Amino acid sequence: MSTARVLVRAEHDYEVLIGRALEAEVVGAVGTEPRRVLLVHQPPLAGRAARLREALGDAGHDVLLAQVPDGEAAKTAAVLTDLWSRLGQAAFTRQDLVVGLGGGAVTDLAGFVAASWLRGVPVVQVPTTLLGMVDAAVGGKTAINTPEGKNLVGAFHSPRAVVCDLDTLATLPPDDHAAGLAEVVKCGFIADPRILELVEADGGTGARDPGSPVVAELVRRAVEVKAEVVSDDLREAGRREFLNYGHTLGHAIELSEDFRWKHGHAVSVGMVFAAELGHAAGRLGDEDVARHRGVLGALGLPLTYRQDRLPVLLEAMGRDKKTRGATLRFVVLDGVGRPGRLEGPPTELLEQAYAAIA
Ligand code: GLY
Repeated sequence: MSTARVLVRAEHDYEVLIGRALEAEVVGAVGTEPRRVLLVHQPPLAGRAARLREALGDAGHDVLLAQVPDGEAAKTAAVLTDLWSRLGQAAFTRQDLVVGLGGGAVTDLAGFVAASWLRGVPVVQVPTTLLGMVDAAVGGKTAINTPEGKNLVGAFHSPRAVVCDLDTLATLPPDDHAAGLAEVVKCGFIADPRILELVEADGGTGARDPGSPVVAELVRRAVEVKAEVVSDDLREAGRREFLNYGHTLGHAIELSEDFRWKHGHAVSVGMVFAAELGHAAGRLGDEDVARHRGVLGALGLPLTYRQDRLPVLLEAMGRDKKTRGATLRFVVLDGVGRPGRLEGPPTELLEQAYAAIA
């Protein structure tokens, strides 16, 4: 397949590359001038990191490999401090560069190290999960967690490039792949109905197969949606909030499950809830609500949550950092591709929508 290139407009414009066997593109994005490169990765990607180190070394760069703990354990102040020490000891300058190779946790961490060191050094993001490719690594949000919550410390720091090598998706567990597809479907509902049609055309078979051309098209389309939205609203003053479709209830489910649920699974239930809420508010028709269950269900994503949990979820939504002021805010649809806001819906409406997903 040929490599797709999607432009993102930010403080500096950058490209998201989508294709296969893209190691040379990562080296190209780092540049021809010799520099120090901090290559951040997690243990399962040690082999790939070693190969990339060699390729970068062959191109004249001096690579520091930084293996960080697996999963969300990478996104801590302790890991960040350790990386800062490594940069200090290597006398890392603004001419040097960070590479984040991994899932969303690694690209969030690598992005924040790059944002904070010397008030900002360049970062090239190399997401290796579907969620990382279509969401975390694109758009310049970087963060670490604190004991009080996820992503509470962070910065906007746009990458120099994002390189999505679809070959890396083959090793992803099917559950993680499906969870990433939830964010792809989200892009379908808020902006690009062709994404929904691609899933509907074969009952989700192509979408579930990481090697299929359908996945390549889905990733490109989802990245195009995200690129368009963040190019228009980098700092989330307006439209970027629409990318949180399904996330208000989704975050609350993640919290109530102590993060044992995958993000995409929680967002899947959150989107069905948001569709029901839009329906209860008289804004979204029956067929579009049914389409949520059809598409997400075809991908093996969850559509329901425990009946007794509404009070706990309401409490969690109230505490969500994205809540502005005292009222709950939801992204709802006025039709496929027509996102809008619903602020402070009455409790009866929330109960009605919840009853439909419980
Ligand atoms: N993940 C939502 C955003 O990047 O704004």
